[in-house]
Amino acid sequence: MQIDQQKLIEYYGDAPDDISLAEIDLGHLPSHVSIIMDGNGRWATKRGLDRAKGHVAGVDSLREAVTTSVRLGFDVLSAYAFSTENWKRPKLEVDLLMSLFAKTLVKELPLFHQENVRLKLFGDLEALPDETYRVFMRGLDETADHDGMTFALAVNYGSRAEIARAAAQIAREAKEGLIDPDDITPDVVAAHLYTAGLPDPDLLIRTSGELRLSNYFLYQLAYTEFYATDTLWPDFTRWDMLRAVRSFQHRSRRFGGV
Ligand code: IPE
Ligand code: IPE
Ligand code: MG
Repeated sequence: MQIDQQKLIEYYGDAPDDISLAEIDLGHLPSHVSIIMDGNGRWATKRGLDRAKGHVAGVDSLREAVTTSVRLGFDVLSAYAFSTENWKRPKLEVDLLMSLFAKTLVKELPLFHQENVRLKLFGDLEALPDETYRVFMRGLDETADHDGMTFALAVNYGSRAEIARAAAQIAREAKEGLIDPDDITPDVVAAHLYTAGLPDPDLLIRTSGELRLSNYFLYQLAYTEFYATDTLWPDFTRWDMLRAVRSFQHRSRRFGGV
């Protein structure tokens, strides 16, 4: 996506000591960056606050990540907001998260319009509370014609469920004679995932020091570069994004070649 260099320089303003925009090769930016936003609870607990406050603070980081990604010209920013396993959390926390998703999206829709960002959602949305579902559908509908960056949020998402769902869909098509089982290639599988039509992530960021995937994008991450940071999600800023991109730019991606 096109970068407005002047806007980007202004956006980045005064740099901290260890990183600056000058270290980034603007001609070699990732197309799709994905984030496992983790550490909201610990951020709050460290401050003697309720975990809910950590999720509320995490929304600010996400808003900044969206703006940063638009400025850096990413084609896609995706973020893991709620896993199929997160239903195991106390009902109060789950309810808070579900209403936070709805409230935030309503509040941030003007930003999507202003930045020409198209919303996508990955996951089993029908299992979400009515209000969250309704707002999500409205968000998809109102941003469908935007042709700037795609912002994809994974909610009630689990990679294993996604792959099983794809397998079931392909099996149904085979049964109806629409596809020959011998023609089921990796691309056909990819076309049945929630991420169909989007490029695989170039860079995966996980915050809070955890080094695991937690059932995220098991199929899509085959050749993705990983960046793990101890920074907790509510503390993640535009500068952390730059640190991640700098790290990405120092990798040698071989895709199995030499
Ligand atoms: C990530 O932060 C947000 C969600 C999973 C919804 P956590 O809530 O997992 O925060 P920690 O890992 O407990 O600190
Ligand atoms: C992964 O974080 C899910 C999201 C960020 C939405 P978790 O906090 O749920 O992951 P685990 O339980 O530490 O693996
Ligand atoms: Mg966590």
